[in-house]
Amino acid sequence: LLTGAAALAISTTIAGAQTIGFSQIGSESGWRAAETTLTKQQAEERGIDLKFSDAQQKQENQIAAVRSFVAQGVDAILLAPVVATGWDAVLEEAKEAEIPVVLLDRQVDSSDDLYLTAVGSDLVHEGSVAGQWLVDTVAGEECRVVELQGTTGSSPAIDRKTGFEQAIADHGNIEIVRSQTGDFTRSRGKEVMESFLQAENGGADICALYAHNDDMAVGAIQAIKEAGLKPGEDILVVSIDAVPDIFLAMAAGEANATVELTPNMAGPAFDALKAYMTDGTMPEKFIQTESKLYTQADDPQGEYDRRKGLGY
Ligand code: AHR
Repeated sequence: LLTGAAALAISTTIAGAQTIGFSQIGSESGWRAAETTLTKQQAEERGIDLKFSDAQQKQENQIAAVRSFVAQGVDAILLAPVVATGWDAVLEEAKEAEIPVVLLDRQVDSSDDLYLTAVGSDLVHEGSVAGQWLVDTVAGEECRVVELQGTTGSSPAIDRKTGFEQAIADHGNIEIVRSQTGDFTRSRGKEVMESFLQAENGGADICALYAHNDDMAVGAIQAIKEAGLKPGEDILVVSIDAVPDIFLAMAAGEANATVELTPNMAGPAFDALKAYMTDGTMPEKFIQTESKLYTQADDPQGEYDRRKGLGY
C-alpha cells in the first residue's frame, strides 16, 4: 500500500476532485439498491467523482470493472465482491498500480494486504443473532427449520449459515431440514419456499423459516400465504437486513424478527480513504458496522416510516 512519495502524490490529488470507482454487485435486493443510492449520495456530498459499474451478479464483470478503473488511474476503488474467491490477480493489479481498494459489505478469501480495509458487519454474528432468537422463541419445543441461503459462494451466505448453525448447535429440538439458495432475491425466495412447502406436507411440518436476507423472506411470506398458512404464526420468519418491507410484514404479524445491516457502508469507507489519502492514516483492516435485532415488539410501523426515504 501507499508509502512516502506515493502517499504524498495521492494527497495532492484530493486537493482536486477525487475519482473513485465503485464495482457494485447488481440490484438483487432492496438492501443492495439502498447501498447503491447511499454510496452515490455520500459521494456527491463529498464532491467525489464516482464511477459506478453494475456487474449484474457476475464476477467477471466486476473483475473487468476493476481493471478498467485501474487503467483509468482512479484514486481509489470500492468493491462489493459478489463471491469470496477469485480476486487475487485483480487485487494484485490494483496494488501494483498503488490504488487502494476498500471492500464493501462482503468479504474475500484473498490475503488482507491486497486491500486497504473492509467495511461490513460481522456476518457470522448476524446468523447467530437470528439463530439465538429462534432458540429463545421456541423455548425447547421441536422446531423443523427451512433455510433460504444467499448467493452461493458469497461471504454472507457462507457466514450467515455458519452463525445460525452455531447458535442452534446445542439445541437438539431445532433442526434445519431443508436448505437451498434463493440467490438473495424475492422471486427465488418465493419459488424455493413453494418447493419447501410442497415437500414438507404443505408446510404443516415446517416450524420456522430462516432467510439470509429480508427480500427472500418477503417472497417466501407470499408463498406461505398462497399455501393457506399464516406466516409469522404457523411458520415463524426470521431474516437479515432490516429493509422497510420486512417491517411492514412485521407490523402485519407476518414476519417475526430481522437483524439490521446498514446500507451506509460508503460513509465509513470514504472517511477511511480520506484519512489515508490526506496523511497516510492506516484504517483498521475491518471497519465493523452494527447488527441489531428487531422483533415485532420494536414498533415495526415506526421503523418502516423511519427507514422510508433513507436511501430505500
Ligand atoms: O452482502 C449483503 C447482502 O447482499 C444483503 O444482506 C443482501 O440483501 C444483499 O443482496
